[in-house]
Amino acid sequence: MRKKLIGHSCRLFFPHDPVKIVRAQGQYLYDEKGRQYLDCISNVQHVGHCHPSVTRAAATQMELLNANTRFLHDNIVQYAERLAATLPKKLCVFYFVNSGSEANDLALRLARQYTQHEDVVVLDHAYHGNLTSLIDISPYKFQKLAGQKEWVHVAPIPDTYRGLYRADHPDPAEAYADTVKSLIDEAHKRGHKISSFFVESLPSVAGQILLPPGYLQKVAQYIRAAGGVFVADEIQTGFGRVGSHFWAFQLQGEDFCPDIVTMGKPMGNGHPLACVVTTEEIAGAFTANRVEYFNTFGGNPVSCAVGLAVLDVIEKEDLRGNAVRVGNHLMKLLRDLQATHPIIGDVRGVGLFVGFELVKDRKVLTPATEEAALLVKRLKEKYICLSTDGPWENVIKFKPPMCFSMQDAERVTEQIDHILTEIEGGLSDLDNKTKDG
Ligand SMILES: Cc1ncc(COP(=O)(O)O)c(C=O)c1O
Repeated sequence: MRKKLIGHSCRLFFPHDPVKIVRAQGQYLYDEKGRQYLDCISNVQHVGHCHPSVTRAAATQMELLNANTRFLHDNIVQYAERLAATLPKKLCVFYFVNSGSEANDLALRLARQYTQHEDVVVLDHAYHGNLTSLIDISPYKFQKLAGQKEWVHVAPIPDTYRGLYRADHPDPAEAYADTVKSLIDEAHKRGHKISSFFVESLPSVAGQILLPPGYLQKVAQYIRAAGGVFVADEIQTGFGRVGSHFWAFQLQGEDFCPDIVTMGKPMGNGHPLACVVTTEEIAGAFTANRVEYFNTFGGNPVSCAVGLAVLDVIEKEDLRGNAVRVGNHLMKLLRDLQATHPIIGDVRGVGLFVGFELVKDRKVLTPATEEAALLVKRLKEKYICLSTDGPWENVIKFKPPMCFSMQDAERVTEQIDHILTEIEGGLSDLDNKTKDG
Protein backbone atom coordinates (compact mmCIF):
# COMPACT_ATOMS: atom_id res chain seq x y z
CA MET A 1 0.00 0.00 0.00
CA ARG A 2 2.79 2.38 0.83
CA LYS A 3 4.43 1.82 -2.56
CA LYS A 4 1.11 2.49 -4.24
CA LEU A 5 -0.05 5.47 -2.20
CA ILE A 6 2.99 7.40 -1.00
CA GLY A 7 5.39 9.32 -3.23
CA HIS A 8 8.49 7.24 -3.82
CA SER A 9 10.82 10.13 -3.09
CA CYS A 10 9.61 9.87 0.55
CA ARG A 11 12.15 7.27 1.61
CA LEU A 12 12.15 4.82 4.48
CA PHE A 13 14.89 3.80 6.84
CA PHE A 14 16.23 0.36 5.86
CA PRO A 15 14.39 0.36 2.49
CA HIS A 16 15.19 -3.31 1.73
CA ASP A 17 13.72 -4.49 5.00
CA PRO A 18 11.76 -1.61 6.54
CA VAL A 19 10.68 -1.67 10.15
CA LYS A 20 7.09 -1.00 11.21
CA ILE A 21 7.22 0.74 14.56
CA VAL A 22 3.97 0.75 16.48
CA ARG A 23 4.95 2.26 19.83
CA ALA A 24 7.94 3.79 21.60
CA GLN A 25 9.15 4.85 25.01
CA GLY A 26 12.28 6.75 25.94
CA GLN A 27 15.06 5.57 23.62
CA TYR A 28 13.31 2.34 22.64
CA LEU A 29 11.14 1.58 19.63
CA TYR A 30 8.83 -1.48 19.39
CA ASP A 31 7.77 -3.12 16.17
CA GLU A 32 4.47 -4.86 15.45
CA LYS A 33 5.83 -8.13 16.87
CA GLY A 34 6.83 -6.41 20.10
CA ARG A 35 10.56 -6.51 19.34
CA GLN A 36 12.54 -3.72 20.98
CA TYR A 37 15.00 -1.57 18.97
CA LEU A 38 17.56 0.76 20.51
CA ASP A 39 17.05 4.14 18.87
CA CYS A 40 20.33 5.99 18.20
CA ILE A 41 18.91 8.32 15.55
CA SER A 42 15.76 10.10 16.76
CA ASN A 43 16.99 13.57 17.62
CA VAL A 44 13.43 14.88 17.24
CA GLN A 45 12.14 12.83 20.19
CA HIS A 46 14.62 14.83 22.21
CA VAL A 47 13.52 14.07 25.78
CA GLY A 48 12.50 10.51 24.90
CA HIS A 49 9.67 9.05 22.85
CA CYS A 50 6.20 9.71 24.24
CA HIS A 51 7.52 11.39 27.39
CA PRO A 52 4.52 11.39 29.78
CA SER A 53 5.03 15.04 30.84
CA VAL A 54 4.95 16.16 27.21
CA THR A 55 1.97 14.04 26.15
CA ARG A 56 0.07 15.15 29.27
CA ALA A 57 0.78 18.82 28.58
CA ALA A 58 -0.44 18.41 24.99
CA ALA A 59 -3.61 16.53 25.95
CA THR A 60 -4.48 18.92 28.79
CA GLN A 61 -4.12 22.01 26.59
CA MET A 62 -5.91 20.35 23.69
CA GLU A 63 -8.92 19.63 25.93
CA LEU A 64 -8.99 23.28 27.04
CA LEU A 65 -8.23 25.42 24.00
CA ASN A 66 -6.36 25.50 20.72
CA ALA A 67 -7.39 28.78 19.15
CA ASN A 68 -6.23 31.11 16.39
CA THR A 69 -2.84 32.62 17.13
CA ARG A 70 -4.30 36.14 16.72
CA PHE A 71 -5.92 35.89 20.18
CA LEU A 72 -3.85 36.73 23.25
CA HIS A 73 -2.63 33.66 25.12
CA ASP A 74 -0.24 33.16 28.05
CA ASN A 75 1.50 30.07 26.62
CA ILE A 76 3.15 31.86 23.70
CA VAL A 77 4.67 34.63 25.81
CA GLN A 78 5.67 32.32 28.64
CA TYR A 79 7.36 30.06 26.13
CA ALA A 80 9.17 32.94 24.39
CA GLU A 81 10.33 34.20 27.79
CA ARG A 82 11.71 30.78 28.73
CA LEU A 83 13.54 30.49 25.41
CA ALA A 84 14.92 34.03 25.76
CA ALA A 85 16.52 32.99 29.07
CA THR A 86 18.68 30.45 27.17
CA LEU A 87 19.85 32.96 24.52
CA PRO A 88 22.11 36.01 24.41
CA LYS A 89 20.08 39.14 25.41
CA LYS A 90 20.32 40.61 21.90
CA LEU A 91 18.17 37.78 20.52
CA CYS A 92 14.78 38.74 21.88
CA VAL A 93 12.10 38.77 19.15
CA PHE A 94 10.44 35.42 18.37
CA TYR A 95 8.40 34.08 15.46
CA PHE A 96 6.85 30.64 15.93
CA VAL A 97 6.42 28.35 12.93
CA ASN A 98 5.80 24.64 12.24
CA SER A 99 8.98 23.23 10.78
CA GLY A 100 12.67 23.85 10.44
CA SER A 101 12.13 24.66 6.78
CA GLU A 102 9.59 27.35 7.61
CA ALA A 103 12.02 28.78 10.16
CA ASN A 104 14.89 28.99 7.66
CA ASP A 105 12.66 30.43 4.94
CA LEU A 106 11.54 33.17 7.33
CA ALA A 107 15.17 33.76 8.36
CA LEU A 108 16.01 34.31 4.70
CA ARG A 109 13.17 36.81 4.36
CA LEU A 110 14.28 38.63 7.53
CA ALA A 111 17.88 38.79 6.35
CA ARG A 112 16.94 40.10 2.92
CA GLN A 113 14.46 42.63 4.23
CA TYR A 114 16.94 43.98 6.79
CA THR A 115 19.99 44.12 4.53
CA GLN A 116 18.22 44.79 1.23
CA HIS A 117 20.81 42.41 -0.22
CA GLU A 118 20.03 39.12 -1.95
CA ASP A 119 23.02 36.79 -1.93
CA VAL A 120 23.64 33.98 0.54
CA VAL A 121 26.85 32.22 1.56
CA VAL A 122 26.49 28.60 2.70
CA LEU A 123 28.77 25.70 3.48
CA ASP A 124 29.27 22.84 1.08
CA HIS A 125 27.07 19.77 1.77
CA ALA A 126 24.74 21.86 3.94
CA TYR A 127 21.04 21.10 4.27
CA HIS A 128 18.66 23.85 5.37
CA GLY A 129 15.23 22.50 4.43
CA ASN A 130 12.76 21.28 1.86
CA LEU A 131 11.20 24.53 0.55
CA THR A 132 12.16 25.86 -2.87
CA SER A 133 14.02 28.76 -1.25
CA LEU A 134 16.03 26.34 0.91
CA ILE A 135 16.86 23.76 -1.72
CA ASP A 136 18.52 26.74 -3.42
CA ILE A 137 20.80 27.24 -0.39
CA SER A 138 21.36 23.53 0.33
CA PRO A 139 24.29 22.17 -1.72
CA TYR A 140 23.43 18.70 -0.37
CA LYS A 141 20.24 18.94 -2.47
CA PHE A 142 20.84 21.38 -5.32
CA GLN A 143 24.01 19.63 -6.46
CA LYS A 144 21.78 16.70 -7.49
CA LEU A 145 19.33 19.03 -9.26
CA ALA A 146 19.58 21.86 -11.79
CA GLY A 147 22.51 23.43 -9.99
CA GLN A 148 23.58 26.54 -8.20
CA LYS A 149 21.79 29.88 -8.38
CA GLU A 150 23.98 32.90 -9.14
CA TRP A 151 23.05 34.42 -5.76
CA VAL A 152 24.36 31.43 -3.80
CA HIS A 153 28.02 31.11 -2.81
CA VAL A 154 29.35 27.82 -1.46
CA ALA A 155 32.28 27.81 0.97
CA PRO A 156 34.32 24.67 1.71
CA ILE A 157 33.19 22.65 4.70
CA PRO A 158 35.61 23.27 7.60
CA ASP A 159 36.33 19.58 8.07
CA THR A 160 39.71 19.21 9.74
CA TYR A 161 39.77 15.44 9.15
CA ARG A 162 39.46 15.25 5.36
CA GLY A 163 38.82 18.83 4.22
CA LEU A 164 40.97 21.47 2.55
CA TYR A 165 42.80 22.37 5.79
CA ARG A 166 43.34 19.58 8.30
CA ALA A 167 44.29 19.15 11.93
CA ASP A 168 47.96 19.71 11.09
CA HIS A 169 47.23 23.22 9.75
CA PRO A 170 48.48 25.96 12.11
CA ASP A 171 45.14 27.86 12.04
CA PRO A 172 42.31 26.03 10.27
CA ALA A 173 39.68 28.45 11.63
CA GLU A 174 41.40 31.41 9.97
CA ALA A 175 42.14 29.48 6.77
CA TYR A 176 38.53 28.32 6.35
CA ALA A 177 37.15 31.77 7.28
CA ASP A 178 39.41 33.24 4.58
CA THR A 179 37.64 31.06 1.99
CA VAL A 180 34.40 32.83 2.95
CA LYS A 181 36.14 36.20 2.68
CA SER A 182 37.34 35.30 -0.84
CA LEU A 183 33.80 34.33 -1.88
CA ILE A 184 32.49 37.66 -0.59
CA ASP A 185 35.21 39.55 -2.49
CA GLU A 186 34.40 37.61 -5.67
CA ALA A 187 30.68 38.35 -5.28
CA HIS A 188 31.40 42.05 -4.79
CA LYS A 189 33.52 42.12 -7.93
CA ARG A 190 30.48 40.83 -9.84
CA GLY A 191 28.25 43.52 -8.29
CA HIS A 192 26.49 41.11 -5.90
CA LYS A 193 25.65 41.96 -2.28
CA ILE A 194 25.60 39.51 0.59
CA SER A 195 22.45 39.26 2.71
CA SER A 196 23.51 36.40 4.95
CA PHE A 197 25.64 33.47 5.91
CA PHE A 198 23.61 30.37 6.80
CA VAL A 199 25.39 27.71 8.82
CA GLU A 200 24.48 24.68 10.90
CA SER A 201 26.33 25.30 14.15
CA LEU A 202 27.54 21.69 13.78
CA PRO A 203 27.13 20.53 10.17
CA SER A 204 25.27 17.23 10.27
CA VAL A 205 24.54 15.82 6.81
CA ALA A 206 28.07 16.91 5.91
CA GLY A 207 29.21 14.17 8.33
CA GLN A 208 28.93 15.32 11.97
CA ILE A 209 31.55 18.04 11.60
CA LEU A 210 32.94 20.02 14.54
CA LEU A 211 33.86 23.52 13.39
CA PRO A 212 37.35 24.70 14.37
CA PRO A 213 37.16 27.06 17.39
CA GLY A 214 36.96 30.71 16.36
CA TYR A 215 35.72 29.96 12.83
CA LEU A 216 32.20 31.33 13.32
CA GLN A 217 33.43 34.57 14.91
CA LYS A 218 35.81 35.22 12.02
CA VAL A 219 33.16 34.47 9.40
CA ALA A 220 30.64 36.67 11.24
CA GLN A 221 33.14 39.51 11.10
CA TYR A 222 33.52 39.17 7.31
CA ILE A 223 29.79 38.74 6.68
CA ARG A 224 28.87 41.75 8.82
CA ALA A 225 31.56 43.86 7.17
CA ALA A 226 29.85 43.01 3.86
CA GLY A 227 26.53 44.25 5.29
CA GLY A 228 25.14 40.72 5.77
CA VAL A 229 23.74 38.92 8.79
CA PHE A 230 24.77 35.67 10.47
CA VAL A 231 22.14 32.93 10.65
CA ALA A 232 22.82 29.98 12.96
CA ASP A 233 20.73 26.94 11.98
CA GLU A 234 20.26 25.16 15.32
CA ILE A 235 17.48 22.95 13.98
CA GLN A 236 19.43 19.77 14.75
CA THR A 237 21.81 20.94 17.39
CA GLY A 238 19.85 23.20 19.75
CA PHE A 239 18.19 22.46 23.09
CA GLY A 240 21.23 21.05 24.84
CA ARG A 241 22.22 18.27 22.45
CA VAL A 242 25.87 19.28 22.89
CA GLY A 243 25.48 19.02 26.67
CA SER A 244 27.83 21.73 27.88
CA HIS A 245 25.74 24.48 26.26
CA PHE A 246 22.10 24.98 25.36
CA TRP A 247 23.02 26.10 21.82
CA ALA A 248 25.81 24.64 19.71
CA PHE A 249 26.94 28.08 18.48
CA GLN A 250 27.96 28.75 22.11
CA LEU A 251 30.71 26.13 21.71
CA GLN A 252 32.56 28.80 19.73
CA GLY A 253 32.69 31.09 22.77
CA GLU A 254 30.18 32.44 25.31
CA ASP A 255 30.45 35.90 23.73
CA PHE A 256 29.53 34.79 20.22
CA CYS A 257 26.05 35.89 19.15
CA PRO A 258 24.43 35.23 15.75
CA ASP A 259 21.96 37.77 14.33
CA ILE A 260 19.28 35.16 13.69
CA VAL A 261 18.87 31.68 15.18
CA THR A 262 16.52 29.06 13.73
CA MET A 263 15.31 26.10 15.78
CA GLY A 264 13.00 23.16 15.19
CA LYS A 265 13.25 19.40 15.46
CA PRO A 266 13.76 18.81 19.22
CA MET A 267 11.56 21.73 20.30
CA GLY A 268 8.28 19.83 20.30
CA ASN A 269 9.61 16.31 20.93
CA GLY A 270 7.82 15.23 17.72
CA HIS A 271 5.06 17.83 17.73
CA PRO A 272 5.59 20.21 14.76
CA LEU A 273 7.05 23.24 16.45
CA ALA A 274 9.83 25.52 15.23
CA CYS A 275 10.98 29.08 15.71
CA VAL A 276 13.08 32.00 14.54
CA VAL A 277 14.63 34.42 17.00
CA THR A 278 16.35 37.64 16.02
CA THR A 279 17.32 41.11 17.16
CA GLU A 280 14.99 44.09 17.57
CA GLU A 281 16.68 45.84 14.62
CA ILE A 282 16.15 42.97 12.18
CA ALA A 283 12.58 42.34 13.38
CA GLY A 284 11.94 46.09 13.15
CA ALA A 285 12.97 46.17 9.49
CA PHE A 286 10.62 43.26 8.82
CA THR A 287 7.72 45.05 10.54
CA ALA A 288 8.51 48.23 8.65
CA ASN A 289 7.48 46.69 5.32
CA ARG A 290 3.94 46.71 6.79
CA VAL A 291 3.16 43.22 5.53
CA GLU A 292 1.66 41.03 8.23
CA TYR A 293 3.45 37.77 9.03
CA PHE A 294 0.67 35.29 9.70
CA ASN A 295 1.22 31.65 10.48
CA THR A 296 -1.95 29.63 11.06
CA PHE A 297 -0.47 27.02 13.41
CA GLY A 298 2.82 28.54 14.57
CA GLY A 299 2.76 29.38 18.28
CA ASN A 300 -0.69 27.96 19.01
CA PRO A 301 -1.52 27.22 22.67
CA VAL A 302 -1.01 23.45 22.32
CA SER A 303 2.35 23.78 20.57
CA CYS A 304 3.59 26.22 23.20
CA ALA A 305 2.36 23.97 26.05
CA VAL A 306 4.35 21.14 24.47
CA GLY A 307 7.41 23.37 24.09
CA LEU A 308 7.23 24.45 27.73
CA ALA A 309 6.94 20.83 28.87
CA VAL A 310 10.02 19.88 26.82
CA LEU A 311 12.04 22.66 28.48
CA ASP A 312 10.87 21.47 31.92
CA VAL A 313 11.96 17.89 31.22
CA ILE A 314 15.39 18.97 29.92
CA GLU A 315 15.93 20.76 33.24
CA LYS A 316 14.26 18.33 35.67
CA GLU A 317 15.96 15.27 34.23
CA ASP A 318 19.30 17.03 33.73
CA LEU A 319 19.39 15.84 30.15
CA ARG A 320 22.26 18.17 29.29
CA GLY A 321 24.31 16.60 32.09
CA ASN A 322 23.32 13.18 30.74
CA ALA A 323 24.44 14.23 27.24
CA VAL A 324 27.87 15.18 28.63
CA ARG A 325 28.32 11.99 30.68
CA VAL A 326 26.93 9.49 28.16
CA GLY A 327 28.40 11.33 25.17
CA ASN A 328 31.87 11.24 26.75
CA HIS A 329 31.48 7.56 27.60
CA LEU A 330 30.32 6.76 24.05
CA MET A 331 33.24 8.69 22.54
CA LYS A 332 35.69 6.85 24.82
CA LEU A 333 34.24 3.46 23.83
CA LEU A 334 34.41 4.40 20.15
CA ARG A 335 38.00 5.62 20.54
CA ASP A 336 38.87 2.28 22.18
CA LEU A 337 37.39 0.57 19.12
CA GLN A 338 39.40 2.90 16.87
CA ALA A 339 42.58 1.56 18.53
CA THR A 340 41.75 -2.00 17.43
CA HIS A 341 39.82 -1.43 14.20
CA PRO A 342 41.88 0.29 11.48
CA ILE A 343 38.67 0.92 9.52
CA ILE A 344 37.65 3.59 12.07
CA GLY A 345 39.52 6.61 10.76
CA ASP A 346 38.04 9.28 13.00
CA VAL A 347 35.79 9.62 16.03
CA ARG A 348 34.33 13.05 16.72
CA GLY A 349 31.52 14.65 18.58
CA VAL A 350 30.27 16.64 21.49
CA GLY A 351 27.52 15.66 23.91
CA LEU A 352 25.10 13.35 22.12
CA PHE A 353 26.10 14.60 18.67
CA VAL A 354 28.67 11.96 17.75
CA GLY A 355 30.01 10.43 14.58
CA PHE A 356 32.70 8.01 13.48
CA GLU A 357 34.10 7.79 10.01
CA LEU A 358 34.97 4.53 8.24
CA VAL A 359 37.91 4.57 5.84
CA LYS A 360 39.60 1.88 3.79
CA ASP A 361 42.97 3.46 4.40
CA ARG A 362 43.97 5.84 7.19
CA LYS A 363 46.50 7.67 5.00
CA VAL A 364 44.51 8.32 1.83
CA LEU A 365 41.17 8.33 3.71
CA THR A 366 39.32 6.40 0.99
CA PRO A 367 35.72 6.34 2.27
CA ALA A 368 34.54 2.87 3.34
CA THR A 369 31.01 3.51 2.09
CA GLU A 370 29.96 -0.12 1.52
CA GLU A 371 31.29 -1.17 4.88
CA ALA A 372 29.36 1.65 6.57
CA ALA A 373 26.13 0.51 4.87
CA LEU A 374 26.83 -3.07 5.90
CA LEU A 375 27.51 -2.05 9.49
CA VAL A 376 24.18 -0.20 9.69
CA LYS A 377 22.37 -3.18 8.16
CA ARG A 378 23.96 -5.64 10.60
CA LEU A 379 23.22 -3.37 13.57
CA LYS A 380 19.59 -3.30 12.57
CA GLU A 381 19.57 -7.12 12.59
CA LYS A 382 20.76 -6.76 16.20
CA TYR A 383 17.83 -4.38 16.87
CA ILE A 384 19.90 -1.20 16.91
CA CYS A 385 18.96 1.75 14.66
CA LEU A 386 21.84 3.86 13.38
CA SER A 387 22.39 5.67 10.09
CA THR A 388 25.11 6.94 7.78
CA ASP A 389 25.81 10.45 6.61
CA GLY A 390 28.48 12.61 5.01
CA PRO A 391 29.17 13.20 1.29
CA TRP A 392 30.34 9.57 0.95
CA GLU A 393 27.85 8.07 3.41
CA ASN A 394 30.74 6.67 5.41
CA VAL A 395 30.09 8.49 8.67
CA ILE A 396 28.00 6.62 11.22
CA LYS A 397 26.11 9.17 13.23
CA PHE A 398 24.60 9.11 16.69
CA LYS A 399 21.89 11.60 17.60
CA PRO A 400 19.74 9.61 20.02
CA PRO A 401 17.04 10.84 22.37
CA MET A 402 18.80 12.65 25.21
CA CYS A 403 17.87 9.93 27.74
CA PHE A 404 20.33 7.55 26.01
CA SER A 405 22.15 5.69 28.81
CA MET A 406 25.65 4.40 29.60
CA GLN A 407 24.31 0.83 29.10
CA ASP A 408 22.92 1.80 25.69
CA ALA A 409 26.34 3.18 24.70
CA GLU A 410 27.97 -0.06 25.85
CA ARG A 411 25.43 -2.25 24.03
CA VAL A 412 25.84 -0.49 20.70
CA THR A 413 29.65 -0.29 20.81
CA GLU A 414 29.90 -4.00 21.73
CA GLN A 415 27.88 -4.85 18.63
CA ILE A 416 29.94 -2.46 16.48
CA ASP A 417 33.06 -4.24 17.73
CA HIS A 418 31.71 -7.68 16.68
CA ILE A 419 30.46 -6.54 13.29
CA LEU A 420 33.63 -4.62 12.39
CA THR A 421 35.71 -7.66 13.37
CA GLU A 422 33.65 -9.68 10.88
CA ILE A 423 33.92 -7.04 8.17
CA GLU A 424 37.67 -6.64 8.61
CA GLY A 425 38.10 -10.42 8.62
CA GLY A 426 36.32 -10.54 5.28
CA LEU A 427 33.69 -12.86 6.79
CA SER A 428 30.89 -10.66 5.60
CA ASP A 429 29.77 -10.89 2.05
CA LEU A 430 30.09 -7.33 0.83
CA ASP A 431 28.58 -8.34 -2.51
CA ASN A 432 25.33 -9.01 -0.73
CA LYS A 433 25.37 -5.64 0.94
CA THR A 434 22.42 -3.31 0.74
CA LYS A 435 22.64 0.45 1.00
CA ASP A 436 20.44 1.02 3.99
CA GLY A 437 19.89 3.88 6.36
C1 LIG B 1 20.05 21.55 9.79
C2 LIG B 1 18.65 21.45 9.30
N1 LIG B 1 18.00 22.57 8.94
C3 LIG B 1 16.73 22.55 8.51
C4 LIG B 1 16.03 21.36 8.40
C5 LIG B 1 14.60 21.34 7.90
O1 LIG B 1 13.74 21.07 8.95
P1 LIG B 1 12.29 20.41 8.68
O2 LIG B 1 12.50 19.04 8.16
O3 LIG B 1 11.63 20.46 10.06
O4 LIG B 1 11.57 21.30 7.72
C6 LIG B 1 16.67 20.15 8.76
C7 LIG B 1 15.96 18.86 8.63
O5 LIG B 1 16.54 17.81 8.51
C8 LIG B 1 18.00 20.21 9.22
O6 LIG B 1 18.66 19.10 9.57
